Amino acid sequence: MAAAAIQTVQLTRRFPSGTALDRLDLEVFPGEVLALLGPNGAGKTTTIRLLNGVLQPDSGSARVLGLDPAVDGHAIRQRTGVLTENAGLDDRLTARENLEVVARIRGLKPAVAHERVGELLERFDMGERADVAVQGASTGQRKRIALVRALLHDPELLFLDEPTSGLDPAATRDVIELISSLATEHGRTVVLCTHFLGEAGRLADRMAVLHRGTLRAAGRPAELAAEMWQGLPTDIELAAPADARVLGLLRPLDGVITAESTPTGLRVEVGHRDVIARVVRTLVDASVDVFAATPQPHTLEDVYFAIEAQLEIESIS
Ligand SMILES: Nc1ncnc2c1ncn2[C@@H]1O[C@H](COP(=O)(O)OP(=O)(O)OP(=O)(O)O)[C@@H](O)[C@H]1O
Ligand SMILES: [Mg+2]
Repeated sequence: MAAAAIQTVQLTRRFPSGTALDRLDLEVFPGEVLALLGPNGAGKTTTIRLLNGVLQPDSGSARVLGLDPAVDGHAIRQRTGVLTENAGLDDRLTARENLEVVARIRGLKPAVAHERVGELLERFDMGERADVAVQGASTGQRKRIALVRALLHDPELLFLDEPTSGLDPAATRDVIELISSLATEHGRTVVLCTHFLGEAGRLADRMAVLHRGTLRAAGRPAELAAEMWQGLPTDIELAAPADARVLGLLRPLDGVITAESTPTGLRVEVGHRDVIARVVRTLVDASVDVFAATPQPHTLEDVYFAIEAQLEIESIS
């Protein structure tokens, strides 16, 4: 496998209020989207700040694009795009001015900067507001300008801290599509912090879950799901909720782990997709009409909530 785009070893940061990040070991591979998840205060933003060298660790270390952020923060920031939680724009300047200043700092030539800023502002539907002072811009408009800023220098590694919070539905869809194309078509590596699990599920190759500064799980959602649950839930639609006779036909079948009645028929948990065919055949042979059989694979959201539930159990026991 290619060298990691990001690797942390026991990365730790404390604040007077407590440990924001506790001995984090994490790898992010080139070209993947990693969803960095966790409740408020889990340490996500702290991680991003450490990885870009804007915050120093108390112990442990990190490599980002082969560099140490504690030493080479500036060089790293030239190659990364960071969307922070607070846009941090100069209200007195226009959107275009804000962006051209940053483009200059990022080393773009003025003509290139001008073109790129114009192009990206149009892409985010901000063309009309480009030359108006940022003061008075709405939350979503500020977010769009900040997104342009993160993308200006076409960085190979992007840190997007809640990129869609505050955006309207159409802009949210545009940003999700943009992130997806950056990763799949342009090979960019993306670290995505978000509280929108559907969005994370759609975009992320892997997920990492932080809780109070500690990494609780990391991996592909499907692999984490396979460790948590044995089977594949499948909804079988019948004319009525399955009764004891119907459930009794299915429960002894090889590969059926559980079978429960639902308002629209039943839900079976099967060991393998092939078992679904056996279930349907058994029902039809017993003159039970089957209207649909729909596998419902566990999602990133299911995995996330299962981890949260586990943490709750730990905290009360
Ligand atoms: N500059 C700071 N000074 C003091 N404490 C801080 C600072 N930055 C973060 N913390 C603390 O570190 C912990 C982790 O904060 P962090 O901002 O990384 O969380 P987060 O996962 O990004 O949360 P959210 O989902 O709310 O954005 C919190 O308890 C927070 O109060
Ligand atoms: Mg945060």
